[in-house]
Amino acid sequence: MKVYLDNGATTKVSDTVLEAMLPYFKEEYGNPSSIHQKGFDAKKSYNQSKRLIAKLLHCDKDEIHFTSCGTEASNWAIKGMAYKHPSKTEIITTKIEHHATLHTVQFLEARGYTIHYLDVDETGFVKLEQLKAAINENTLLVSIIYANNEIGTLQDLKQIEHICHQQNTILHIDAVQATCHVPLNLHAMNVDLLSISGHKFHAPKGIGILYIKNGIAIENLIHGGQQENKRRSGTENMPYIIGLTQALKEGMNELIHYQDKLNKLSRYFLEQLDHANIEYRLNGPSIGHNRLPGNINISFKNCTNTNITYYLNKAEIYVSTGSACDSESIEPSHVLKNISVPEEYINGSIRFSLGIDTTKEDVDYVTDTLISIVQKLSANR
Ligand SMILES: Cc1ncc(COP(=O)(O)O)c(C=O)c1O
Repeated sequence: MKVYLDNGATTKVSDTVLEAMLPYFKEEYGNPSSIHQKGFDAKKSYNQSKRLIAKLLHCDKDEIHFTSCGTEASNWAIKGMAYKHPSKTEIITTKIEHHATLHTVQFLEARGYTIHYLDVDETGFVKLEQLKAAINENTLLVSIIYANNEIGTLQDLKQIEHICHQQNTILHIDAVQATCHVPLNLHAMNVDLLSISGHKFHAPKGIGILYIKNGIAIENLIHGGQQENKRRSGTENMPYIIGLTQALKEGMNELIHYQDKLNKLSRYFLEQLDHANIEYRLNGPSIGHNRLPGNINISFKNCTNTNITYYLNKAEIYVSTGSACDSESIEPSHVLKNISVPEEYINGSIRFSLGIDTTKEDVDYVTDTLISIVQKLSANR
């Protein structure tokens, strides 16, 4: 039995998404900028996609900009603002961002920007009073991860948005993990910039979105043709745009159903460990309480996660030791360090990310295997 519980790293392209994409490789392959029927057809599909995405995300069609991935979207949000507003030289972010944000602000830090890295509490929530205190007239923007990719903390965006806009500060949200897991009503959320990545919700890798609220002045990063409202050049990646649109439609329509399913399966997962008296620590908020559905990040006392994942992999169970991009590092993750995971637990952390295809049988197989691995490793200590 093979079980993939690494949906936080990436997801499988769904059959219906692939089916929707296929005609755009060999039949509907026109360039939306072309001035003939193939081009008109492509342009029509492109506009239909944008209209549907705008409806699903509750925003205007022209606020949606396709990018190559979530990383590009966040780079654009942060560097694009920096290049457009050079007099503002302070950025506020958190200590538990994904590297797409952390390394981007560090790039600017090396060029003279002051970066305020907000602390988080022991379950990963931003300290709001620190945010309030850090904002000043030099603040370029606040950039915050909505759903943490490692520990699943879902920030209180209402409060964050309120604090930012009370002080006229631009807010960028990294919603890469949150999309299709929690409702995204962009106009109600009142954020200024927001990053999305298709491969986290069953679209292919290589397509993302930067939402730019109407009226936000931002510099372009990619120059060339006139695509994406003259803001991001490059011939539109039509098959992937169609795939992302279909995946977003399916994900948003099924959101409540999957939230419920994933929370139930996650609780069941932890119950199995409890029944076997396994000593573990759930990193991040409790299941169902401002936690990304499907994310289970647990640490085992005095165990090394690489040992556990080695045996899980041998049993054809695929998980992660944190953020996929971090897996080559032997340092404990910056996220776990910043939520003060105790010393005896910090090297034994594993992220199981359940997905829409995960079944109870999968969880039974994984927990049975995991329990025997942890018991064996503990006995050998
Ligand atoms: C929270 C978060 N932000 C940004 C990214 C980067 O997205 P992409 O892989 O599309 O570049 C990821 C990917 O893991 C992520 O989890």
